[in-house]
Amino acid sequence: MACGLQIKDEESGYNKNLFCIPKHYEDDLERVFIPHGLILDRTERLARDIMQEMGSHHIVALCVLKGGYKFFADLLDHIKVLNQNSDKSVPITVDFVRMKSYCSKTDSSTEKISIIGEELSALNGKNVLVVEDIIETGRTMETLLSKLKDYKPKMVKVVSLLIKRTHQSSGYRPDYTGFEIPDKFVFGYALDYNEYFRDLNHICILKEKAREKYKI
Ligand code: IMP
Repeated sequence: MACGLQIKDEESGYNKNLFCIPKHYEDDLERVFIPHGLILDRTERLARDIMQEMGSHHIVALCVLKGGYKFFADLLDHIKVLNQNSDKSVPITVDFVRMKSYCSKTDSSTEKISIIGEELSALNGKNVLVVEDIIETGRTMETLLSKLKDYKPKMVKVVSLLIKRTHQSSGYRPDYTGFEIPDKFVFGYALDYNEYFRDLNHICILKEKAREKYKI
């Protein structure tokens, strides 16, 4: 259970003017925190680690929507490359779950999962790889994992692009982690703020006034 690439608390990221940013978000961003290229490079290595451990049997890759979709697509692209260029390969099938929580984030008992797409009974007896964008307290993932048990998969592994160092953590750690980040809110690369910033390639930190602008 590796902790991933550690980003220190004092890391401030990069000057956004050194990167290509969509015009409509230029005034909203404070800094680029994790550039897109670095995300892809780390994802390539995660794909290799996952295939070394899980690559001898059919894998069901389960994307946690909506925030996980970019990471899911890029991770699967890297896994496909490994499958194409190796003497052995395994089929990868995909499924999607959408996590929805009620307003009260302070009470884990109020968390609810709504499942969209195909029936998750397809997970029965399979090796499942859950693909998530970010783990903060860990409650969302713990709720999902307990739900998945009902479908009796053979094995479940979790890969999260990000894990936050926060005193609010339940102690949950994924099997594979891209980056361990300080206790900051980050957006972009499908991580949203009220649905905005998913269409941004880099993971970024917002200006305070942007939080007001996109507040609902
Ligand atoms: P947890 O249950 O506290 O681990 O929260 C995980 C979920 O909260 C993620 O799937 C995201 O939807 C959301 N989340 C937590 N931190 C951030 C962040 O910094 N940016 C965007 N979404 C976040």
